[in-house]
Amino acid sequence: MTDTATLSLPGGQMAYLPVVVGTEGERALDISRLRSDTGYITLDDGYTNTGSCKSAITFIDGEKGVLRYRGYNIEEIAKRCSFIETAQLLISGDLPSPEKRKAFSDLLTEHSALPEDFRRHFAGFPVHAHPMSILSAMINALQSYDLPGLSIDDEEEFWRVSGSLISKVRTIAAAAYKSSIGESLIYPRYDLKYVENFLHMMFSRPYREYVPTAEATQALNLFFLLHADHEQNCSTSTVRMVASGQANLYASVAAGVCALWGKSHGGANQAVIEMLNILQASKTPVSEYVSKIRDKSSGIRLMGFGHRVYRHYDPRATLLKKACDDLLAKMEIHDERLDIALQLEEVALHDDYFVSRQLYPNVDFYSGIILTALGIPMEMFTALFAIGRMPGWIANWKEIYDNKDAKIYRPRQVYVGPSERAWVSRFHRERETESDDSMEFRVPNELRSM
Ligand code: CMC
Repeated sequence: MTDTATLSLPGGQMAYLPVVVGTEGERALDISRLRSDTGYITLDDGYTNTGSCKSAITFIDGEKGVLRYRGYNIEEIAKRCSFIETAQLLISGDLPSPEKRKAFSDLLTEHSALPEDFRRHFAGFPVHAHPMSILSAMINALQSYDLPGLSIDDEEEFWRVSGSLISKVRTIAAAAYKSSIGESLIYPRYDLKYVENFLHMMFSRPYREYVPTAEATQALNLFFLLHADHEQNCSTSTVRMVASGQANLYASVAAGVCALWGKSHGGANQAVIEMLNILQASKTPVSEYVSKIRDKSSGIRLMGFGHRVYRHYDPRATLLKKACDDLLAKMEIHDERLDIALQLEEVALHDDYFVSRQLYPNVDFYSGIILTALGIPMEMFTALFAIGRMPGWIANWKEIYDNKDAKIYRPRQVYVGPSERAWVSRFHRERETESDDSMEFRVPNELRSM
């Protein structure tokens, strides 16, 4: 039997709200009938306490620092899975059999190249264009090549389009980089796996093949799979919002790319390195910088810290910190910015401002240092986040597509603008403006204060 919560409203009115319990014991009040039964809606600016959907893809316990994809702990996935297996797990719901894994891998290889005349699109962007701007535009453009009818008609077609997107997003990102530095675009290779192929397209030149090291491949594989999904974050909610209006998969994930770009979201990985660069160049002591952050009037935030859901260490940050240490040691790199990041973390974790607000390092705090060590330029960081997040966006799009009872996402609002006003004719508006102007003319500013 379903539990019911009773809500007592002004005027003695009562509302009875069914309690919904998730598989991990999270409890929610179903308010879907609240307005029709009582005339009330709920108000939750920024959706800080709103469950927007039921989802079976990713589970987060922000208090304990737990993250699971389809029931598997992220630590286990990080140890045992490739990014491509992780993508299949997220989208299909299960770990793939060896045959399915091979078939998906072949599908990605088959769809890795862009249509030949796509090159013209890259040429249409100015050299300084941000890769995220190119990425979102190109994914939308891809739709018109790949899915002329705009709709996905069956499971096979869904997997073809999904595979094509997961594969091509990496080709587009690498091509966006190449065009931004004025180099020739590099074709994908059929004999390389996903991550190696991306590094090849990023760093090979027509006259010199780039051969990625095993540690570079491993670090990037980890980066991608740790970013693969994170339940109802800003970009995924955007994808679901767009999908709920029955937009096609390309249009929905292109919207996700745009949402990811913001520096409170995916753009934070770039913002972290920018912050570390400034601290390094200015030699500002870490304690001084943290004091500035504590002073809210400075408007400065510690980038790579804090999270809407985690009130504990983001488990992805823990994994990336370890990977970062290992990678720098193997590559024999000493990066002063890592020292600064470690000092920042140390100071913040013992500072009352951060402790009382339960602010811990998030996924973006160490990822930028890894990407820098791999030679990825800062402007590409968020594009790499988008490559990683693509399977999660697709899995969430599919959840909406498969739900034949899915409703269009359409929140309500509490209107706080003017109440009904009498119409003012243009003639009267002009007269009012004239009289305001003439006041200005007759009373000069300097005389007004006298
Ligand atoms: N530095 C300083 N103060 C912070 C920070 C921070 N990084 N994050 C939150 N706060 C303070 C904030 O000022 C507020 O203080 P008060 O209660 O006195 O007003 C309190 O902590 C709660 O912050 P909030 O902005 O209400 O929390 P939120 O859940 O709306 O924001 C966040 C979450 C991630 C946008 C925020 O923590 C932030 O801006 N962090 C820095 C940017 C960042 O690293 N973003 C990446 C997030 S993880 C990857 C992803 O989602 O893409």
